[in-house]
Amino acid sequence: MQIYLDTANLGEIREAARWGVLSGVTTNPTLMARETGADFQETIRAIAGLVDGPISAETVSEDADGMVSEGLEYAAWHPNVIIKVPATTAGLEAVSRLGEKGIRCNVTLIFNTGQALMSALAGAFVVSPFIGRLDDISQDGMELIREIAAVFEQNPGIATRILAASVRHPRHVIDSALAGAHIATCPFKVLKQCMAHPLTDKGIAAFLADWRSREAAATAHGATAN
Ligand code: G3P
Repeated sequence: MQIYLDTANLGEIREAARWGVLSGVTTNPTLMARETGADFQETIRAIAGLVDGPISAETVSEDADGMVSEGLEYAAWHPNVIIKVPATTAGLEAVSRLGEKGIRCNVTLIFNTGQALMSALAGAFVVSPFIGRLDDISQDGMELIREIAAVFEQNPGIATRILAASVRHPRHVIDSALAGAHIATCPFKVLKQCMAHPLTDKGIAAFLADWRSREAAATAHGATAN
């Protein structure tokens, strides 16, 4: 399982990159809109300078010609740029046409296995099932990952990777790995939560307190000896 960061915030990416766990970054129009005033191209180039791995940049056209044109433009920004297109028939055509030019695509907004299979057959580099948004409407996001993984497993010709998206909490990350996802893209908050445990904090506090009392005892012993 690889971990990507799901953000367009350079501060978050810079910090998480220092932890040594990031294999890539995903962005989308909503995440870009949160970075008020940031230029898209400059942001993607800056991310590519911070993380040595696939960086997803999403198209906003609704037709294949537009997606291909945007894809060609984004792909020229950096060799690690992956073109994100929606799970529509226009998106499939864009994946296929960009693939002919050696440009890799991430098919996003996947909510059923048919969309994932069609995207894989069109040549998608990754498919992004949105597990959190399925859970939000009382469907089982993890079951979707399991089903896509089973279908891909049965078709050795499929090299498409499964990228668990719309991740809401650390349990989603672990369950995605167990269900067969190759990658989970996480908000910064979730990535930090993955390393948080109250017993770790409590343990550190106890170790530090014991160390200080040991030093205090050593100091007192030295004073008595003198
Ligand atoms: O990578 C897609 C992801 O950003 C969507 O997450 O939380 O908007 O459902 P969310």
